[in-house]
Amino acid sequence: MGVTLAERSRHAVWHPCTQMKGLDQAPPRAIVRGEGPWLIDEQGHRILDAVSSWWVNLFGHGFAPIREAIIDQLGQLDHIMLAGLTHAPVVELSERLGALTGLGHAFYASDGASATEIALKMSAHSWRNRGRPGKHRFIGLQGGYHGETVGALSVTDIPLFREAYAPLLRLSATLPSPDPRHAAPGVSVEAHTTACVQALADHLAEHHESTAALILEPLVQGAAGMGMYAPAYLSAARALCDHHQVHLICDEIAVGFGRTGTMFAHQQARGADGQPIRPDFICLSKGLTGGVLPLSAVLTTDEVYAAFWDDRTTHGFLHSHSYTGNPLACRAALAVLDTFERDDVLARNRATAARLSALAAPLTRHPRVSSHRQIGMIWAWDIDTTDPTFAARFHRTALDMGLLLRPIGNSLYFMPPYVLTEADMQHLVDGAVRTLEQVLAHEAVSSSARAERLA
Ligand SMILES: Cc1ncc(COP(=O)(O)O)c(C=O)c1O
Repeated sequence: MGVTLAERSRHAVWHPCTQMKGLDQAPPRAIVRGEGPWLIDEQGHRILDAVSSWWVNLFGHGFAPIREAIIDQLGQLDHIMLAGLTHAPVVELSERLGALTGLGHAFYASDGASATEIALKMSAHSWRNRGRPGKHRFIGLQGGYHGETVGALSVTDIPLFREAYAPLLRLSATLPSPDPRHAAPGVSVEAHTTACVQALADHLAEHHESTAALILEPLVQGAAGMGMYAPAYLSAARALCDHHQVHLICDEIAVGFGRTGTMFAHQQARGADGQPIRPDFICLSKGLTGGVLPLSAVLTTDEVYAAFWDDRTTHGFLHSHSYTGNPLACRAALAVLDTFERDDVLARNRATAARLSALAAPLTRHPRVSSHRQIGMIWAWDIDTTDPTFAARFHRTALDMGLLLRPIGNSLYFMPPYVLTEADMQHLVDGAVRTLEQVLAHEAVSSSARAERLA
């Protein structure tokens, strides 16, 4: 047999988020085709993509409306620079995103981290243009994740990354997360939320003069293991930011486009007027193109935009990417928006979510599972294990069961495409339960940890 694609990849490709040495034991799976929620590897095995390929794929792989839109666009205009030029797909997409979010002035890049960079720079620069150059610091939340470029890492609270790259970063302030899993024993969810709001209030009271913006992932902190928190925190954060003249940046990169049950997660938080809160910036990516082409966008308010409206170049927003507003990616995004309208995706997801929640009962009831949580099309469970190899072994075992699942630490989660059939859902749950049993049966638990658990 010739050298496999997986073998060649191991030598030629530096894989992301991967200790390459580990690939000696577990080479990457080579995928040759995608069909709906299924991936087919080079041996012909079928693998259900239960994490939407890092949370991007909304309607499965090879989704015809997106493919056809891209092919149609390819016949007209593949790419042009967006400085001094424009084109219909980017104009239409900007208008429609504006109508959906109540913000506007869409600024484009190609990935989530770049959207974070844009929002941070735009916020600080807008304060500077308004005569408040001292407002250039940021606040992030404990466990928050906003990407891995240097600016985005400075508002990301993943200790592993922060420690490795600390000398390169100008770290933001990190305030307590409203994720109830951080509540002290005996403290209710409500009391924990209130304490987190108070911590934000105290910080802003002291530091608002130097703070440009608070950045957060609305409702779900993905990389923290799908930590889910109450909309009440968002409502309070909006009110406090207003009071102290600090921008609120909602990073909807992972949770936008229906993932939490509403088109955008922040729309579940209400202000004092009973209306959904309005952030100062929204960052979008991932599901924006249905996970087919790289694209991100930042939308903002008229007030922020007005701060840049000037004759001086130095007061313009100083940022650009080669692929800003790529026409093919914009057409993919327009096909996504059309699909939401045509197929009433949010209503369909409600039915899918109810069914998958019912089928997932064996996981939720499993004796080694706690902190079951679900919102929209995201499910998560914490597994009672101290085995540091749990996530990696689960991932590998699940692949052998025909499932793409990658726990974060000891948090197992499903974040599937929105197109699962009953049979897909059953395969997912049965496979996850069998994987869990198998992985727990071969746990590497140190004797002290075992003694602790038995105590
Ligand atoms: C909330 C959030 N923000 C930003 C990012 C970074 O996006 P990208 O990986 O496209 O840079 C991610 C990626 O997982 C994310 O989940």
